[in-house]
Amino acid sequence: MKKKATIITYGCAMNVNESAKIKNILQNMGYDMTDDLAESDAVFLNTCTVREGAATQIYGKLGELKPIKEKRGTIIGVTGCFAQEQGEELAKKFKQIDIVMGNQNIGKIPQAMEKLESGDFKHVVFVGDEDELPPRIDADFDSKKTASIPITYGCNNFCTYCIVPYVRGRERSVPMNQILDEVKRFVEKEYREVILLGQNVNSYGNDSEDKEMNFARLLEEICKIEGDFLVRFISPHPRDFTDDVIDVIAANEKIARCLHLPLQSGSSRVLKAMNRGYTKEEYIALAAKIKERVPGAALTADIIVGFPGETEEDFLDTLDVVRTSKFDNAFMFMYSPRKGTKAATMDCQIDQEVKKERLQRLIEVQNEASKELSLAFVGKTEKVFVEGPSKKNKAVLSSRTSTNKIVLFEGESSLEGEFVEVKITDAKTWTLYGELVKN
Ligand code: SAH
Ligand code: SF4
Ligand code: F3S
Repeated sequence: MKKKATIITYGCAMNVNESAKIKNILQNMGYDMTDDLAESDAVFLNTCTVREGAATQIYGKLGELKPIKEKRGTIIGVTGCFAQEQGEELAKKFKQIDIVMGNQNIGKIPQAMEKLESGDFKHVVFVGDEDELPPRIDADFDSKKTASIPITYGCNNFCTYCIVPYVRGRERSVPMNQILDEVKRFVEKEYREVILLGQNVNSYGNDSEDKEMNFARLLEEICKIEGDFLVRFISPHPRDFTDDVIDVIAANEKIARCLHLPLQSGSSRVLKAMNRGYTKEEYIALAAKIKERVPGAALTADIIVGFPGETEEDFLDTLDVVRTSKFDNAFMFMYSPRKGTKAATMDCQIDQEVKKERLQRLIEVQNEASKELSLAFVGKTEKVFVEGPSKKNKAVLSSRTSTNKIVLFEGESSLEGEFVEVKITDAKTWTLYGELVKN
């Protein structure tokens, strides 16, 4: 009987990428993947700690795993940012944990398993080297058409609310030729979408002496690679969104027309307290410039409500930017104090009820914008990337526009993983409906 393993992923796209690497490592060790915890010989929780809720979810999962481990001796590993943050304490607190491993150390999983099997260790902890460039590891993505490639690790921005720089270390850029080789490899294997990852992708190369190593140049070089594929990237920082990057996007259809532009707050006063490096007016001007120079570009944003000291007036500024800049979609969060960050010790922490109420109002305003933007697609013909059968209704195909809108239409399953043209006939807030245009 082959051994079985489960990986549960929390957090951001970087964690999804690292889980694909963990999957590859475990498969090379002879494990088959399963979603069923009860039949798993090894379970890895790849964790996040960006907000309080992330930790609560992990505690819940560890509780669920305890009886499973008691029954069949399942090896339990905890990787990712929460593991990096907590270190050995985690294994001491939860006896069911065998391995605690930081983001940088996932390549040492075989070594950790070996140590456990030797019987000399109660648990194994590897959380060092967060300022080194991690070794390259092959990834096995769930989709055979969408791949992601980290271009930078870590972050130097120290936004005052954010724990990421503390758990992911200083910013390190991956050499350009290594990234280009990876993109080529994926395109040759007929991947259709490549997502470039980093906490602040447009500061790519700032840690290098080589002036030619910058984000605009990287995008340009990637677009020269032949093949029918789309390039996405998350996340750029508004402060570093230079004109040369906008020009490269405008000139290259291979770059998806969906740009993530994390706002965080619409109040210049709060943005300053957050250490974001731009004002409300600068943000609005940037969003307008992008939409003007890249016609049809969709913007998405991350927004936090209830940052310490946020007044009703500050919050109204956020609503104002949401109404003005019109995001296709926004990821909206209540501020969550993180230990060790500057904002966690600031005066005037906002009441939970006020945070909830502001989040609700923000969601309503954002939903209106999303709906309006969706309705504007009706009657247009769009090139879409077919992801596969829709989860809710297997009879229809689910696809995405270059701006990342979901489009449902009837078609043969053989279209999965291809680009096709669809005429949009109807729209709801989050979903467009269309008909396949036959060539
Ligand atoms: N590096 C990326 C993503 C960082 S984490 C970026 O800068 O865009 C993803 C999002 O989580 C952030 O954009 C922010 O909106 C949110 N976030 C981070 N820390 C938070 C906190 N303490 N409370 C609430 N939301 C937070
Ligand atoms: Fe966190 Fe700011 Fe860095 Fe993003 S840019 S990871 S929000 S510190
Ligand atoms: Fe979470 Fe770490 Fe990503 S804290 S959001 S998994 S960088």
